[in-house]
Amino acid sequence: MAIAADASIPTSPLFAPLRVGTLTVRNRLAVAPMTRISAAPDGQPTRRMGKYYAAFADGGFGLVISEGIYTDKAYAQGYQFQPGLSDDAQRDAWRPIVEGVHERGGRMIAQLMHAGALAQANPHRADTRGPSAVRPKGVQMAFYRGSGEYRLPTPMSEAEIAAAVDGFAQAATRAREAGFDGVELHGANGYLLDQFLSEGVNLREDRYGGDLQRRLRLTVETVEAVREAVGPDFPLGVRVSQAKVNDFVHKWSGGVEQAAAIFGTLGKLPIDYLHTTEFEAWQPAFGDGLSLAALAKRHAQVPVFANGSLHLREEAAALLARGDADLVALGRGALTHSDWPRRCLQGQPVEAFDRGLIDPLADLDNAERRRERLRTEQRQSAR
Ligand SMILES: Cc1cc2nc3c(=O)[nH]c(=O)nc-3n(C[C@H](O)[C@H](O)[C@H](O)COP(=O)(O)O)c2cc1C
Repeated sequence: MAIAADASIPTSPLFAPLRVGTLTVRNRLAVAPMTRISAAPDGQPTRRMGKYYAAFADGGFGLVISEGIYTDKAYAQGYQFQPGLSDDAQRDAWRPIVEGVHERGGRMIAQLMHAGALAQANPHRADTRGPSAVRPKGVQMAFYRGSGEYRLPTPMSEAEIAAAVDGFAQAATRAREAGFDGVELHGANGYLLDQFLSEGVNLREDRYGGDLQRRLRLTVETVEAVREAVGPDFPLGVRVSQAKVNDFVHKWSGGVEQAAAIFGTLGKLPIDYLHTTEFEAWQPAFGDGLSLAALAKRHAQVPVFANGSLHLREEAAALLARGDADLVALGRGALTHSDWPRRCLQGQPVEAFDRGLIDPLADLDNAERRRERLRTEQRQSAR
């Protein structure tokens, strides 16, 4: 195998294998979860999505984390053409996709997502549910086919909360049956679990609202239910962030102490890893202290996946070398180059992210059209 052509960039920490619970990953490079709204209308993933995911394993990524997959046919689905794991037909359609990644030496984790109040389009329900009747900030995301304000959610009843938790557990069981190597609960970016965690969004006065431990209760119960459903040896992680898709600059008001409490609580749960995401993963989470990944590592003592602008390979390698994280997950970097790991090993240049790949729509069609257009332009300018 080729080695890094540019010896001045110490990339070796990125290429050591990693053990996450019972899972061994061949290197420290993962594809971050990315919604591509390219499933069939009934939520079944397609063969084309299989090719998309297989390309990352071909390109050397050790781990592929799927896009956010909806968990139930009640209120979980966020977007039209989002894939699900809410029935057996959806499960069966994931099987060849996971196999395609496995055949290329990769491992694949299913990200399980409940959109809560951020649901933009859900064929199963006309209205939305959230912790409280608070309209989400901002406007719906156009690149996921949304427009205008978010709907005002109805506060979830205890029975609806129990159903959502059960939805996660059942979807996790299906993920295991489909051959996935683990599941990641989407507790970040402003979706349901994060809505319950967030002051100002969760105004509940029952056992799911109030102080931090109460606001974390839904995540805790979900982890416990999923663990119970999948058994002790199936890798399980939780994704956490400060920022939200509808509020990029959100910071936890309690700063480092709140981070210590959140990661301390999560670290005691039966999980195998935490996945933190920030705009630039290596920057201090608050003021001038540790990054969010490093805070997770310090207070949770489980393997930490870090995400956020880590296609800058020096930053990615340095983060791992410092011990602030155990694995880096690339979003835009992976979209730019599905063979980013191979390029990194071979010291090849990497291009800047082209927003046209996900604009005006974040689906696979749009990206393919964009790539074709750029190829045509290059051919024409070479003449
Ligand atoms: C098109 C697109 C879709 C995304 N969908 C998801 C998702 O389904 N689940 C999730 O946790 N994050 C999602 N993200 C966020 C990415 O996982 C990642 O946090 C973000 O791109 C920043 O990482 P980067 O700097 O490596 O791109 C999405 C990002 C993009 C660009």
